[in-house]
Amino acid sequence: MQIADLDFCVPEDLKSLVEIENACFAVPWEERLIAADLGGGGYSTYLKATFKGIIAGYGVLGQNDGSAHLMNIAVLPEYRRHGVGLQIMAAFDVLANEWLCKRMYLEVRASNTGARTFYANLGFVYSSRIKGYYNDEEDALVLVARIPLKL
Ligand SMILES: CC(C)(COP(=O)(O)OP(=O)(O)OC[C@H]1O[C@@H](n2cnc3c(N)ncnc32)[C@H](O)[C@@H]1OP(=O)(O)O)[C@@H](O)C(=O)NCCC(=O)NCCS
Repeated sequence: MQIADLDFCVPEDLKSLVEIENACFAVPWEERLIAADLGGGGYSTYLKATFKGIIAGYGVLGQNDGSAHLMNIAVLPEYRRHGVGLQIMAAFDVLANEWLCKRMYLEVRASNTGARTFYANLGFVYSSRIKGYYNDEEDALVLVARIPLKL
């Protein structure tokens, strides 16, 4: 495992985050939405994992009704399977604990088997299915885990 530098994202990270979105998702988050969040317009927390100044991955955590909501996590393909995702999740675990959240939940594409394995290892279990949740009508699985996560 390589140890990444973890820090909160700043507006200047926008271009890198958009590049990560485009590299990781068929339907990336819109640049203007990320820009609004980074500009302080959102309620979510953006964390980045950096190696020698290059952002290898990032994650977005929000809060909803006393639960932490993992809204996004993405690692550039060339940095995957080196523990970057886990390091972001470890930081979010600390944050969720600070927020006094007892659980964390997320939505994941039913077909995203790699991410589902990643989450299962952290203690996430199936909670429910949302029909046609994504723009292309694919279902989302809602997964939930207790805080602390299984790190
Ligand atoms: C899911 C994702 C964030 C994981 O990031 P990562 O940095 O590669 O994850 P890690 O290296 O920390 O993985 C930790 C463990 O999770 C499991 N895991 C991670 N990716 C996996 C995959 N594609 N298939 C199977 N297991 C996987 C493995 O057990 C891994 O440990 P190992 O490499 O020692 O076997 C990354 O694959 C990604 O960005 N995917 C595309 C975007 C995405 O789908 N995001 C989730 C949206 S809900």
